[in-house]
Amino acid sequence: MDGNAKKSVRETFLEETDRDRSKSRLESNSEESLKEISSQFFEMVPVRKMKWKDDDAAMLMIHPELQIQLLNATLKHPLCQSFPPALSYRLYFMKLLIQKLESEDATIADEIYEAYTDLLSCPEEDDETLCYKSYLIPPGEYISLQESVHLVSQGTTGLSTWQAAQHLTEWVLENPHVVSNRTVVELGCGLGFMGIVICKCCQINSYTFTDCHSQVLKLLSKNIHFNLGIDRARQELASSSKVKIKKIPHQTQNQHSQLSGMGISEDCQSSKDVDSIARLAKSNQIFGDEDDENSVEANQLIVKSKFWNVDASCGSASFKQDPRVNLCHLDWECVAQKQLENLNADIILAADVVYDLSIIPALVFVLKTLLRHNCLGNKKTRAFIASTIRNEDTRDAFLIAMASEGLSYSMVENPKQRRFFYDRSVPIEILEFYAS
Ligand SMILES: C[S@@+](CC[C@H](N)C(=O)[O-])C[C@H]1O[C@@H](n2cnc3c(N)ncnc32)[C@H](O)[C@@H]1O
Repeated sequence: MDGNAKKSVRETFLEETDRDRSKSRLESNSEESLKEISSQFFEMVPVRKMKWKDDDAAMLMIHPELQIQLLNATLKHPLCQSFPPALSYRLYFMKLLIQKLESEDATIADEIYEAYTDLLSCPEEDDETLCYKSYLIPPGEYISLQESVHLVSQGTTGLSTWQAAQHLTEWVLENPHVVSNRTVVELGCGLGFMGIVICKCCQINSYTFTDCHSQVLKLLSKNIHFNLGIDRARQELASSSKVKIKKIPHQTQNQHSQLSGMGISEDCQSSKDVDSIARLAKSNQIFGDEDDENSVEANQLIVKSKFWNVDASCGSASFKQDPRVNLCHLDWECVAQKQLENLNADIILAADVVYDLSIIPALVFVLKTLLRHNCLGNKKTRAFIASTIRNEDTRDAFLIAMASEGLSYSMVENPKQRRFFYDRSVPIEILEFYAS
């Protein structure tokens, strides 16, 4: 009897140790999984496309405390207070999480339901066109960009970050020597994802962000303040950053042609990879000017004089808090050779700019001028262009036009490490161009 009692104490002890071991194993596995889910949440990866490691559902099911950790890594993460993903996205995330747990018959932590009800009672955001997307960059810091929730809005593709930019950024992070001590110029930079990461992580000589769209440039200038400015500027802008919107007329013919080049029609905003398809028609909107106090304008570049030194003669501005960083209105279709030469680029970067047959001659003119300007010596200018291959004919037309100008290329190896959570189902390639 005594012996039996001792055995049962020992058994109980062993069982408890086993349970503790398995719990701590789950917890250490779950740390990696939670990090992945958290990164996808802040990048606003479409909820149905989020990657959940197979065991995650089981872990969440067994341990309600892991559900709370998940909450702390997403909805209750401090980043979510300052730079939240869109309200509709947060709601959908929670709804699917609860469905997932319910379908597994899990004991659901009260905090999960509370967080969901809190979200449901949030007043609808007056501007559901803009949201924050945050990206985890090395060595473990987030950058937060204000972006449009639509892939295409205001007739431009420049108000969101595209896969090719994330792909080329991953590649530069693995090959930082390419931009080290270089004068880097980015064409069609959109909201600045790649440049902001490079300015944060690499030793560039200078970085010039260029684009043609005035609203893209305006939001880009804010994204630069948020992320490359001193902390005070980041906080100040976060609190005053909701930009009002007002309606503008339908797209111009040229914008229409660009959108169809990306496989995007006026009433479909997806290019194979977006789950919120039917909203483009409603998104013909433009940011208002209510926050334009102290703004200066130079050739469609509207920036805050507090943060930027503007050179009105060439539509460019230099960031006061980091003079390596420049912003420039540059439209491939109407840019003078001299303006391009003055950029003195020795590395040119561009992501997802080859999607429209009609724009290829102008883009090739810009690349030819930049690549030929500085083609001697050991700092020979090179261009790295990343493209999502939606249409091989468009890519081939671009290559033929580049070759006819004596510009050669070689294919660059894909980045090895997957840092960002973009859709990889459509191939993306990086080509390196140089004047032969
Ligand atoms: C598909 S978006 C890519 C944005 C960014 N590179 C990215 O990958 O996230 C194409 C960009 O090219 C810019 N663009 C289109 N036509 C242009 C032109 N004629 N001159 C300069 N930029 C142009 C758009 O404003 C937009 O920002």
